[in-house]
Amino acid sequence: MQESITNTYIPLESLTKTNGDNGLSKKLYVETYGCQMNFADTEIVNGIMGKNGYSPTENIDESSIILINTCSIRENAEERVYQRLNEIRKYKKQNPAIIVGIIGCMAERLKRGIFNKKSVVDLVLGPDEYRKLPSLIDNLIDSGEKGLAVKLSRVETYDDIMPLRKDGITAWLSVMRGCDKFCSFCVVPYTRGRERSRPLEGVVSEVKQLWAEEFKEVTLLGQNVNSYSSGENDFADLLKSCAEAVPEMRIRFTTSHPQDLSMKLIETIAKYDNLCKYIHLPVQSGSNRILELMKRNYTVEHYLNIIDNIKKIIPDVSLSTDIITGFCSETEDDHKMTLNIMKEVQYDGAYMFKYSPREKTKAWELGDDIDEEVKTKRIIEIVELQKGISEEKNSKLLGKEYEIIIEGISKKSDKMLFGRTDGNKTVIMDKNGTKTGEKVTVRINKTNSATLFGEIIHKN
Ligand code: SAH
Ligand code: SF4
Ligand code: F3S
Repeated sequence: MQESITNTYIPLESLTKTNGDNGLSKKLYVETYGCQMNFADTEIVNGIMGKNGYSPTENIDESSIILINTCSIRENAEERVYQRLNEIRKYKKQNPAIIVGIIGCMAERLKRGIFNKKSVVDLVLGPDEYRKLPSLIDNLIDSGEKGLAVKLSRVETYDDIMPLRKDGITAWLSVMRGCDKFCSFCVVPYTRGRERSRPLEGVVSEVKQLWAEEFKEVTLLGQNVNSYSSGENDFADLLKSCAEAVPEMRIRFTTSHPQDLSMKLIETIAKYDNLCKYIHLPVQSGSNRILELMKRNYTVEHYLNIIDNIKKIIPDVSLSTDIITGFCSETEDDHKMTLNIMKEVQYDGAYMFKYSPREKTKAWELGDDIDEEVKTKRIIEIVELQKGISEEKNSKLLGKEYEIIIEGISKKSDKMLFGRTDGNKTVIMDKNGTKTGEKVTVRINKTNSATLFGEIIHKN
């Protein structure tokens, strides 16, 4: 184990050699923003750095390398990172040898521009360049040269890299990278590049390994998992293979695009007990005119038809969605149509956003003509409506029993535990002699719009 530094100043002259034997602690601190794929990428980064003698730390004070894994999806996601960099400046003041890097989607979007804007930054690496981290760090230490690597790849999936995960109950696993959909509002196709999938065998063997490491749940990740393709196999085949390989592991996935969610996928989810009966299917808007402008490639009718099929084939399914409000030219009528589709589908949960124009996207050219106050009014209506729906749906679960995998201590009280139902609803319960990782049956005795509360009936 390397010695760690705690705010100790390392003279620059001691940093002339690489390979860690230079007084520089090999502790890496990564702060992650954005979607689950970014969290999974941070584990890949820790895996790559781990192989090169670095160990991850959650304590920024003892790190010698600080990386921020960033998100560009909305403007405020980027602003938060700039604010954070202002705070991080103090670590560099205390110890100029500390290395600060911006990785992930913002690195890919802004490239060299980040150096110009924030001089505290030493490294900028896009999501397909993480293998270069150790050598760019060595080079920086050797020559003082800042490191920039932002090429996107058509093949990189990090299939051979074992992510370095924290011990836990649930794991993320990226099965594909990139997105080819080019929805008009979205930066992801530019920050993540073209779609590519990991080979099915690699995914299945990692899922088996996770089970051997005592993970109880895995979430298969992709910006658009329906595009997964490995040889003859599609995403439904991948789910089937995983479900059969580890029959007791709970398996989730996210995200599906409504354009190409197949009947085969719905039937596969219905068939296997360990595939969670939970589908996140972002609708974005309830107006066909707006969907067209968003280049989502489906209509409200097509979307509702998929929802009908899902509800028919998986009767106890939980559904969630993403909604953008205040997209360019959205009228009060368009907004009402969004409220209507929410009422019609009766989602269990929703992630709701104000439209944030992103440079280079198609929608950027359309402009951002909905006033901030209007966006705020509409998002409040959307959030309130969803709250009511969630509250009502959850109240119907009173008295029902669910199998829960205990994930840890509740944030509300250290005497309570939390876990989730198959349908991804958080449940809080008394400890009752159980511990993290155990499967229990819980009877629900209280609910609100966000959480279920229950008592443990028995251990399973
Ligand atoms: N691949 C996923 C979405 C990933 S981004 C999918 O298509 O389902 C997560 C969500 O962020 C999107 O579903 C959308 O609702 C929201 N989002 C993306 N770009 C946005 C923007 N420019 N402004 C506001 N919200 C946006
Ligand atoms: Fe963005 Fe659309 Fe791709 Fe989702 S499917 S990541 S919203 S471009
Ligand atoms: Fe953000 Fe990049 Fe994910 S833009 S949402 S971190 S793919």
